[in-house]
Amino acid sequence: PKDVGILALELYIPSSYVNQTELEVHDGVSSGKYTIGLGQQNMGFCTDREDINSFCLTVVQKLMDNYKIKPQEVGRLEVGTETIIDKSKSVKSVLMQLFEPHGVTDLEGIDTTNACYGGTAALLNSIAWIESSSWNGRYAIAVAGDIAVYAKGSARPTGGAGAVAMLIGPNAPLVFDRGVRATYVKHAYDFYKPDLTSEYPVVDGKLSIQCYLNALDQCYQLYKKKVAEKTQKKVNLSDFDAVLFHTPYCKLVQKSLGRLSLIDFLQNPNNVGGLEKFKNIKLEDSYFDRDVEKAFLDVSKQYFIDKTKPSLLVASQVGNTYTSSLYGGLISLLSTKSSRELSGNKIVLFSYGSGLAATMFSITVKPNDALNKIVSHLGSLKRHLEQRQKVDPMKFEKCLELRQETCHKAPYEPVSCVDGFFPGTYYLTKIDEMHRRFYQRV
Ligand code: ACO
Repeated sequence: PKDVGILALELYIPSSYVNQTELEVHDGVSSGKYTIGLGQQNMGFCTDREDINSFCLTVVQKLMDNYKIKPQEVGRLEVGTETIIDKSKSVKSVLMQLFEPHGVTDLEGIDTTNACYGGTAALLNSIAWIESSSWNGRYAIAVAGDIAVYAKGSARPTGGAGAVAMLIGPNAPLVFDRGVRATYVKHAYDFYKPDLTSEYPVVDGKLSIQCYLNALDQCYQLYKKKVAEKTQKKVNLSDFDAVLFHTPYCKLVQKSLGRLSLIDFLQNPNNVGGLEKFKNIKLEDSYFDRDVEKAFLDVSKQYFIDKTKPSLLVASQVGNTYTSSLYGGLISLLSTKSSRELSGNKIVLFSYGSGLAATMFSITVKPNDALNKIVSHLGSLKRHLEQRQKVDPMKFEKCLELRQETCHKAPYEPVSCVDGFFPGTYYLTKIDEMHRRFYQRV
């Protein structure tokens, strides 16, 4: 099949958020730490009425409704998430409730977990299936979703919650470039969830940033090498129309773009005025080097505005949605451009999941009716974000306390109300004594 890629995208975000400026005051940190230091504006969260199953039910149903996809047209469905509830039982199996009633059970794919990378694994598996001898002519759906909550403390403002569903097939407007994907996987304890009774990770903040930047360096260099081998052309940031990143918080993404410009510079250090002193910098010694960081933030400033900032809408307003973060970035980008502006664009994406697994890949935009549909559907994203309800930090904290106490409790009847939920949202009605979960739709 030709032009395999993304044919449609859907986003689900919870209807409540907390404002980061208010959170700074509430947490008693210096003013600007979360908003300027981390680059975050608002953070989405959910109550005990929602879980990863309800998130994924909502986003898949929304995708199928809005793009008029029949269950019978889907041949593969898989989920990437690190929000674990039933351990051995997958979210994918829960999503079968949307397919079984239509007689659709011949549906490959299951859940994949490695921190924020699972969504990318689901996406790459889906693409591989379409390109394989097992393909049966149907679409694949790749789902990425998470409820990102941290224990009280410095990591909490980098939480978030959301889910993305992507329809994968041939003749797509967002075509995956072949033969240039660059992956970096290694063993690290930067962020993981060893306490199976808690939603909170164990996280070494500084190490996680170092691991992220190291994986970024490795993937970008390998990506450039593969492109050069394939096309006999040396690419650098000027060759891309958009550069998207997994976004734990927006400031890290701005620094990451700076790092890519550093790598471009190190590969061709001539003719760049004022940067000579950085010619012999070793990447692995420079993760926290303030001089290097500042110099290359400056170098990449305009690129950031043009190529990366448009992709940070969801991340700045909702926070880190883990597996769906990068794809929320793609949705943000597509929501700010017209089909004409996107036509022929080259988009580079960097996916990172702690522990760690990372891939850099690229997409070429080929305009067609499907692109028009995506762009017109996502045009209302900004308005949608504004329709959410702001909740004060005290109430936000109470919600997290409630989740903390009840996330694995059985039997349990959720107590939070569903007023203000967006139409079409699935929510948890009860967990019975066997830990079985039941849902209804607003
Ligand atoms: N005004 C402006 N900037 C400020 C202010 C202020 N008042 N106060 C602090 N800052 C800046 C700091 O200088 C710092 O900037 P820098 O990153 O350029 O050094 C930034 O705000 C953050 O402040 P720190 O003191 O470094 O923050 P802290 O150590 O308390 O926590 C961290 C930050 C480590 C990111 C924490 O939120 C965390 O652990 N998050 C989860 C892990 C994470 O997201 N890792 C990223 C990759 S892995 C993943 O995706 C999960």
